[in-house]
Amino acid sequence: MTREHVVPKAARTHVSVGIIGLGNVGLGTLEILLESAQRIEGKLGFALDVAAVCSRNPRQKKLPPLEGSVIRTSEWRDVVDNPEIDIVVEAIGGTATAGHIIEEALRRRKSVVTANKELMALRGSELWALASENSVNLAMEASVAGGIPIHTVLREGIAGDRVLELYGILNGTSNFILTEIEKSHAAFESVLSEAQRLGYAEVDPSADIDGLDARSKLAILAALAFGEKLTPAEIYTEGIRRIMPVDFQYAHQLQHTIRLLCLARQSDEGLLLSVRPSLIPQTAILAHVQGAYNAIWIRGAYGDDTFYYGRGAGSKPTGVAVVSDLMRVAREIRFGSPERVSPFAYESLDAHRPLPVATQKLPYYLRFRVEDKAGIIAMLATILAKHEIGIDAVLQLPREDWRDLPFVITTEPAPEQSVRQALLDIRDADFLIEPPFAMPMERGF
Ligand code: HSE
Repeated sequence: MTREHVVPKAARTHVSVGIIGLGNVGLGTLEILLESAQRIEGKLGFALDVAAVCSRNPRQKKLPPLEGSVIRTSEWRDVVDNPEIDIVVEAIGGTATAGHIIEEALRRRKSVVTANKELMALRGSELWALASENSVNLAMEASVAGGIPIHTVLREGIAGDRVLELYGILNGTSNFILTEIEKSHAAFESVLSEAQRLGYAEVDPSADIDGLDARSKLAILAALAFGEKLTPAEIYTEGIRRIMPVDFQYAHQLQHTIRLLCLARQSDEGLLLSVRPSLIPQTAILAHVQGAYNAIWIRGAYGDDTFYYGRGAGSKPTGVAVVSDLMRVAREIRFGSPERVSPFAYESLDAHRPLPVATQKLPYYLRFRVEDKAGIIAMLATILAKHEIGIDAVLQLPREDWRDLPFVITTEPAPEQSVRQALLDIRDADFLIEPPFAMPMERGF
């Protein structure tokens, strides 16, 4: 396909932006653009003007003061069809209407900046192809880890490296809940309620606490890091609902802590990906990530370890990501740059199936809640031995209630497949008050 060169508009003094969606991200973007207009112009050498804003109730919404010339509308087509607008910000989220808006904007040769991880994880490469056909850009820094410029890092900063492993804490809500349980020893449900009261967790918290938000982000980062197109559903995902305060007590006894770990690891056999609560050593840099913060640790074949830390969400941190994308795209428009870097770092993505996590060999943390009686450990040890799983340690805190006794067995490194089979054999034992709970113990941290 030949790309048409975009002809720079002669003596352009400004580039115009239309923002669709004035929720958290859209409003943060608008406020930064208005408050920092002069500084942005100083950096670019030309103005980045807000020409239109679109939201469901544009008149009712409490907006920062806008010049009279700025269009306020509730109809997204007023922005997308407007010939004066060069770049459309899609900040409504979701996949249906947002997908439609982005397609229409790209077809009308407007570049798009989006914060939409769900849509970009599902249809990003198809939308990039459409952007490319129309010689415009599609930028999505804000879609993963809000305030951390991780796309720029993978797309440009360490593009010269070959990524071997990527580990992330990519969901601030889950990290807030886990680190609160760790600090206060409060039960999951009460910490979740507190997170909802503080506005960290949504009324329906499932996207965050069941790992779905994190897996969309991991799918995007895996594309950027490894050039693989992955649908989020292909990524093995477990959330944090089963974590109990006692898990932290046992993890600490093992000099570990627990985080919702997003992982992508390249080996000769393929790419292994997972989002799941995992034990990581207390000395690991990711173990120090507290509260609603996000972090990503990347190991490259040449550059070795690099680490990125910051706010994963929030109106202003995510707004910075959108505005920085806008500035990059505006420069291209201003200077008529014909060649753009794919937002996925690779011009085209491969589509290999990820390796099943059951193939990995790690030590596992197995937590049992039992109604105590004699012979439980002996029976568990027999079943584990039948599956050739060695026991590393048995941990039991002083008993408080013999009818609900949580204790832990840690294993020697074992294939996850064997661990799963053993847990299936154990699952129906009459002393269990809930199915056994397993977490991998990550090594090499
Ligand atoms: N809900 C997400 C989080 C932020 O808790 O990290 C938006 O992606």
